[in-house]
Amino acid sequence: MIDIEGKVKEIMENGLREIREAKDIDKLNDVRVAFLGKKGQLTSIMKAMKDVPAEDRPKIGKWVNDARASIENSLDLMREKLDEAQQEAFMKAETIDVTLPAKTPIAGHRHPNTIALEEVERIFIGMGYEVIEGPEIEYDEYNFTKLNIPANHPAKDEQDTFYITKDILLRTQTSPVQARVMEKGHLPIRMISPGRVFRSDEVDATHSPSFHQIEGLVIDRDITFADLKGTLDVFAKELFGPETKTKFRPHHFPFTEPSAEVDVSCFKCGGKGCRFCKGEGWIEILGCGMVHPHVLEMCGIDPNEYQGFAFGVGLERIALLKYEIDDMRLLYENDIRFLNQF
Ligand code: DAH
Repeated sequence: MIDIEGKVKEIMENGLREIREAKDIDKLNDVRVAFLGKKGQLTSIMKAMKDVPAEDRPKIGKWVNDARASIENSLDLMREKLDEAQQEAFMKAETIDVTLPAKTPIAGHRHPNTIALEEVERIFIGMGYEVIEGPEIEYDEYNFTKLNIPANHPAKDEQDTFYITKDILLRTQTSPVQARVMEKGHLPIRMISPGRVFRSDEVDATHSPSFHQIEGLVIDRDITFADLKGTLDVFAKELFGPETKTKFRPHHFPFTEPSAEVDVSCFKCGGKGCRFCKGEGWIEILGCGMVHPHVLEMCGIDPNEYQGFAFGVGLERIALLKYEIDDMRLLYENDIRFLNQF
């Protein structure tokens, strides 16, 4: 008769040895299958039991069960050990090297338009002005009619204005905010209103269908052209330097009377004439005037009691001048090599 006890012992010892030699969990699973699985070595002994005399079966059953228990126990211990080792290996691999230099965070840059706007806002807030915004989608009534711009004015042509309906359009100027603020009737008024405006223009170095303006409006008793001149002179000196001189040239805007365009002495050459000011010595920067009495009336203000002045500045114009940028398109292209310079 074959030596079953010796065979079981041999299987067990082989099993225990293979468990000891297992390097990882996968290998350990292979061992489990090879010895304890359905077709495993110990299982096959149990299967052969039917050929054994009945009186020997309990004895053999005990050997096999003991061997199985021993292998299972050993498998459990080994599994624990391998798990721990794996954890440790993970931890080692995960170690953070605190001596590595940190990634330098890339700080963004303010857009030249934003820098120029904040500069203008700073100057006027310093003189007690409020900053008030108005809608970019505007009624024809506010954009034109209430500003004394008659129905046959060329600015109302579809070639110049983006219409949404007959009565609603993309505002062509920030001036409608004047009417909106005056209508509210909280006097006196001292405000600037920056924002985007739209005109049906072809893109080139000095034109864009969308650009920005800053409107200004002051309404109070006893406001004269001298207040307008003084205010804009301070503004020009703050913006372009204390040596800056201003020149008021008569002009026409429908909503102001009298109206003027303002030039500043060239801050490059001091007024002598250079390439920058095209030899003029002066650079045009804005439009302004005394608010037209009819505009005041249309907005519910009595022109005999209150007067005021208004002005409108192109924001891009200021940014281009201040940073000596020669093409407006650069302001909209979002080229990081350009923006990085500010
Ligand atoms: N709205 C004018 C324009 O777009 C600019 C302007 C001129 C605004 C004179 C004013 C002003 O408030 O008084 O051309």
